Amino acid sequence: MSDTSLQSQADALLHEAQQDTTDQQTFHQTYLSKRGRLAVLMEQLKTLSVDEKKLAGKTLNTIKQQLETIEHKKGQGLADSDVWTDMTMPGLQPSVGHIHPISQAMNEITQIFEKIGFIRVRYPEVDWEWYPFDSLNMPKDHPARDEWETFLVDNKFVHPTLGKMVLTPHTSNGQVREMERLNHQPPIRMINIARCYRRQADVTHTEMFHQFEGLVVDKGITIQHLKGTIDHFARQFYGKNAKSRIRPFHFQFTEPSFEVDFSCTICNGTGKVHGEKCRFCKSGWHEVGGAGMVHPNVLKAGGIDPDVYTGFAFGWGIERTYTLREGLKLDDIRLLYNGDMRFLEQF
Ligand code: FA5
Repeated sequence: MSDTSLQSQADALLHEAQQDTTDQQTFHQTYLSKRGRLAVLMEQLKTLSVDEKKLAGKTLNTIKQQLETIEHKKGQGLADSDVWTDMTMPGLQPSVGHIHPISQAMNEITQIFEKIGFIRVRYPEVDWEWYPFDSLNMPKDHPARDEWETFLVDNKFVHPTLGKMVLTPHTSNGQVREMERLNHQPPIRMINIARCYRRQADVTHTEMFHQFEGLVVDKGITIQHLKGTIDHFARQFYGKNAKSRIRPFHFQFTEPSFEVDFSCTICNGTGKVHGEKCRFCKSGWHEVGGAGMVHPNVLKAGGIDPDVYTGFAFGWGIERTYTLREGLKLDDIRLLYNGDMRFLEQF
């Protein structure tokens, strides 16, 4: 139990007491007796730390005085407005919330890319399988589809050309959609941030998570542009000393394909802290996701001539990217989404 949760319970209690229409005796029984609702809140003080207890204790005492005033007033048969109010009494501090850490990260990521000319877009999270698979060079029954452990929507209608409906397992479904939105006319500079879904749930995976996807298509785009963009993001998001590296990998929709690593924020990419192996990264690097040069078949699926245009794309997990910056090795990534205020209030 945290002091803010106790605070909001106390606020709610006072609010209800102020609306209460019962007689004095029932009121006393409900709110102020030994087993009354205030006593139940007082009981929770035991679970708090010394500092929290001090603060919450003060609040509960103020509430007690206010409940006693209401009780007294009921005894005298007075209406609310007849009671003398001490305007000098400290007010009740309302609990103040804040934006969820993942939403904070999304806002920051958007700003970083918008400053260099990317346009933030959003595409359906429930989409036809054509967009996350077929259009990305993964025809039906291609084994690469298995890697995305996709949720299928139980929908009897199968689109004659776009196929079944799925919960999008990656933001890459936005690639061909963006080519279509722009009428197959580059230049394209897209940043697509969205929720993704996969049949995966363990300490490093959640069924629902977020990715951000970059796509650039124009004449003469090369790997240098990709690497420059990755480096720019690393410096903006992790600090001016941050470094990135790309390693060969395979994705059906990019050729060549890479995995992207950022230098560890704890050991500055050295892999060592005070002469010992860095316990956060063990190697100096953390992987955040994939990238590569857009496959010619994907450009064709989006109605763009691969002999004229080239492009790069990247797609990274927001949870991973964010926790790295905070130097946060979450024992369980699901903590981000279980709504525990003790965890969320730290950000
Ligand atoms: C992809 O999803 C590719 N679409 C990335 C890409 C885009 C490659 C464009 C090339 C061009 P991958 O399956 O590796 O790649 O996922 C990318 C990142 O998403 C992972 O590194 C991880 O950070 C995050 N991620 C994937 N699955 C989960 C999950 N279940 N929970 C949390 N994060 C996840």
